Amino acid sequence: MESTRNRLIKLLNQEDNYISGQQLSDHLNISRTAVWKHMKELEKDGYEVEAVQRKGYRIIASPDKTSENTIHWGLSTSWIGHQLHHYEEVDSTQDIVHQLAKQGKPHGTVVVADEQIKGKGRMSRPWHSPKGKGIWMSILLRPELSPVQAPQITLLAATVLAKVITSQSQLIPFIKWPNDILINHKKVSGILTEMQAEHDQIQYVAIGIGINLNQSAEEIPVDIRHKASSLRAESKEEWNITSTIQEILKQFESTYDQYAAEGFNYVKEIWETYGYKIGEKVTISTMRRTWEATLVGIEPDGALIARDSEGKREKLYSAEIQW
Ligand code: BTN
Repeated sequence: MESTRNRLIKLLNQEDNYISGQQLSDHLNISRTAVWKHMKELEKDGYEVEAVQRKGYRIIASPDKTSENTIHWGLSTSWIGHQLHHYEEVDSTQDIVHQLAKQGKPHGTVVVADEQIKGKGRMSRPWHSPKGKGIWMSILLRPELSPVQAPQITLLAATVLAKVITSQSQLIPFIKWPNDILINHKKVSGILTEMQAEHDQIQYVAIGIGINLNQSAEEIPVDIRHKASSLRAESKEEWNITSTIQEILKQFESTYDQYAAEGFNYVKEIWETYGYKIGEKVTISTMRRTWEATLVGIEPDGALIARDSEGKREKLYSAEIQW
């Protein structure tokens, strides 16, 4: 059941104009005193609420800081992010989402942190997650898929990030297989998917999304500066964390719903339009050999397809690619 606070925020959000205390009390089925108390709580969260006699209430400014309320405010999704947990500091949002999954929290639960102390990247690498500089977020999904289909969700998540960057800026994002987001050949975002499965059925998937948003170029650690960047460093503009999270959740939900209705081809087509070096020649090394190939696209099991000089197609699951 959605909290009164969230319903109140939604009601206020629907109205450009004032909404009276009586209307709010009728809609929410609470007393006028309770409405007033909720308004005071909103103010504590940093909202500026204007209360005018005989007219009612109106929110005139939302706070800068990210919180459960500020994310909910203006979030127009049906199932994603309705259960949302925000922390100022955590070891890793992935750890929290695993705990929540084990407690039975629903499909679409989201965990967001301002800072991660032990942010995790793929292949057990650390993920630098400084305070207020990026989006450090995990999404809990309970898809009705078999474990071999789990990579599809990761590929889907990458397309969502690419779409959001495209819609919010002039930047041109690319997805480097399997799921790094690059701008001007530098990584600005990564996705870590962890899964719990039993009897050939996924119990849940934890999608961890890290986006370097507002680091200046100098704030990117020196040792990775040649290959990593942030959206701010590339766009020369400050990004709003809360509204970018809202946009990602909205886009995630619609992409996921469409994928559930149409199948993986929907994701594959979008992924390939953003795919880094798709249609280009690269050098590939596996345990057995090193060869030149043209990258073609992706397969439903998450493999990258490459075509060698004789036209032979090969599926790659793990390979060194000289990008
Ligand atoms: C990668 O190596 O590219 C994946 C990075 C994933 C980082 C995100 S930040 C939110 C979530 N919590 C973590 O500890 N990791 C993921």
